[in-house]
Amino acid sequence: MELDRGHPAVSVRHGGSASGCCRRWNRDDWRTQRDTLPNDARKAHARALFAGLPRHYDRAGAALSFGQDPRWRAALVDAVRARPGERILDVATGTGMVAAALARRYGAEVVGLDQSPEMLAAAQARRSPGVTLVEGEAERLPFADGEFQHLTFTYLLRYVEDPAATLRELARVVAPGGRIASLEFGVPEREPWHALWRAYVAVGLPAAGRLISREWFDVGRFLSASIPDFYARHPLADLPAMWRAAGIEEVTVRRMSFGAGIVAWGTRARSSG
Ligand SMILES: C[S@@+](CC[C@H](N)C(=O)[O-])C[C@H]1O[C@@H](n2cnc3c(N)ncnc32)[C@H](O)[C@@H]1O
Repeated sequence: MELDRGHPAVSVRHGGSASGCCRRWNRDDWRTQRDTLPNDARKAHARALFAGLPRHYDRAGAALSFGQDPRWRAALVDAVRARPGERILDVATGTGMVAAALARRYGAEVVGLDQSPEMLAAAQARRSPGVTLVEGEAERLPFADGEFQHLTFTYLLRYVEDPAATLRELARVVAPGGRIASLEFGVPEREPWHALWRAYVAVGLPAAGRLISREWFDVGRFLSASIPDFYARHPLADLPAMWRAAGIEEVTVRRMSFGAGIVAWGTRARSSG
């Protein structure tokens, strides 16, 4: 894989220092970092899953959610309330949709971080003004404490081994008083939406994914288990407590589309939690 050719502006930052230098990505960086990564099953699966998705990602996400996903993203971007020139970290940036929207909407300086070079290559192809891309892991951010004014993350926590620890790491790099906002799939609780949602993710989503590609069929099957499994381990009612334990206060959880989309936001505590 020729990461250094074709995607020249994808950069990597090493170390946790605010003054750590940004530099161009090359193959040796890729090998070095890969060799030192833990090879846990959830992470390995996420890497494999997203390697095949960038091509259709933006349109497929909107189509498979019946046009709801763009509404959820807009609510996420609204929740940040940044000022021009502020620095925002978008973790699990994927193809960079949220990063681009934040930069456009607020005139902010956005860093998009993701562990998938394939997704980052698609983000890079967007050439969004005000957006810099970094390959890295949410569990070990290569940034100093409080380096960003705000932070967003989208569809991330189902892919990490320890969501509470990852949330603490995300909060660490946000300055006191800064906004932290997320978007995640949810499970509608009330009938008939719950039954309809279950039928759609079990049958409709894999079938619709099949029409796009083999990879989207796999995504459809994966999501039908991954979303309920996440909430079985981490009930939505416990989410504000998890955020507070990470040092995030004034937590608001907004259920959208009958609970199929969950937008949450809060403020980085002034004294660390
Ligand atoms: C469903 S995609 C969401 C992409 C994007 N945020 C969006 O707007 O749709 C999930 C992304 O999370 C990334 N990801 C999963 N686990 C990660 C981790 N531990 N650190 C960084 N990125 C991760 C994947 O590579 C993938 O790009």
